[in-house]
Amino acid sequence: MAVLVCGGAGYIGSHTVLELIDMGQNVIVVDNLEKGHKSAVGGAKLYIGDLRDSEFMKKVFTENEIESIIDFAAYSLVGESVSDPLKYYHNNVTSTICLLENMKKYGVEYIVFSSTAATYGEPENIPILESDRTLPTNPYGETKLTVERALKWADNAYGIKYASLRYFNAAGAHISGNIGEDHSPETHLIPIIMQVALGQRDAISIFGNDYSTPDGTCIRDYIHVTDLSTAHILALDKLKKTNESIICNLGNGKGFSVKEVIDIAREVTGRNIKEAVAPRRQGDPAVLVASSEKAQTELGWEPKYAQLETIIETAWNWHKSHPNGYNDK
Ligand code: UFG
Repeated sequence: MAVLVCGGAGYIGSHTVLELIDMGQNVIVVDNLEKGHKSAVGGAKLYIGDLRDSEFMKKVFTENEIESIIDFAAYSLVGESVSDPLKYYHNNVTSTICLLENMKKYGVEYIVFSSTAATYGEPENIPILESDRTLPTNPYGETKLTVERALKWADNAYGIKYASLRYFNAAGAHISGNIGEDHSPETHLIPIIMQVALGQRDAISIFGNDYSTPDGTCIRDYIHVTDLSTAHILALDKLKKTNESIICNLGNGKGFSVKEVIDIAREVTGRNIKEAVAPRRQGDPAVLVASSEKAQTELGWEPKYAQLETIIETAWNWHKSHPNGYNDK
């Protein structure tokens, strides 16, 4: 019996593949390598292709005995989703619908789906609860919410059981330093700060210092990528045990401002990290912090790398030893 990891060559996917392999599981990866990296997959069996390609997926499902699926395959740039929404609908919605059709066809019952804090949009309350209003302010969040709704109806009609995990800000790298974050283009705060620390960029632009937060910069809840991976594996176990679908936030329940993140990065790296204030980025909520109580009580999840210092240390380790990322494109 195997776990199929879609998008397993990407940032969060590859960390989950590594955890699964370390647990002795049989792992099959499907990735079209548009964003993912072949060398991030390690010892897993890799099929290179697209979830929307039915002939290709037929091969994957018939050559392997797939018991469950973890689906990471998606585009995830908020800004790009605003400028090219159809690209996001096509990849993020259509791909997962095709995957669900295959689950139905081949009798696969369990799926863990990567969702996002962006499903909430501008939050009603901090910390954000799973039962809070979902009103995305960008197509990226909208596509993830659309899939969540499709999952609900697929459960209702076909008995497909799902765990939808709404991540806050994924960050850091594997403790080994062998795999980490490598996006092109890079838009995320911590990897960009690491690039400044390495001298690859002049300064980190702070997108707005006039928010109604204590230091005027946006507050986010950073969660270590391996803690995210662990939550996926626990969610899969939970689905198999209870046969009940679930939606959970994944965050540490603690917010840090952009300025605080930069200060901690200065301490961790010992480097002079120049900053410059820039205009606000469109669509950025001032504060996003998760209530992660549900994941803790329902999944038995306990973040292992909850300290932001540790998260940044692991990121620094990876970026220092891989200044050009995987360098395999
Ligand atoms: N930021 C800067 N300068 C930069 C990059 C980011 O000031 O160069 C700020 C952003 O404005 C934001 C914070 O740093 O306040 C974090 O930004 P990221 O781009 O790292 O992450 P986001 O919070 O925008 O995005 C994350 C996930 C998305 C998800 C979103 C939910 O990466 O997938 O949370 O709102 F959709």
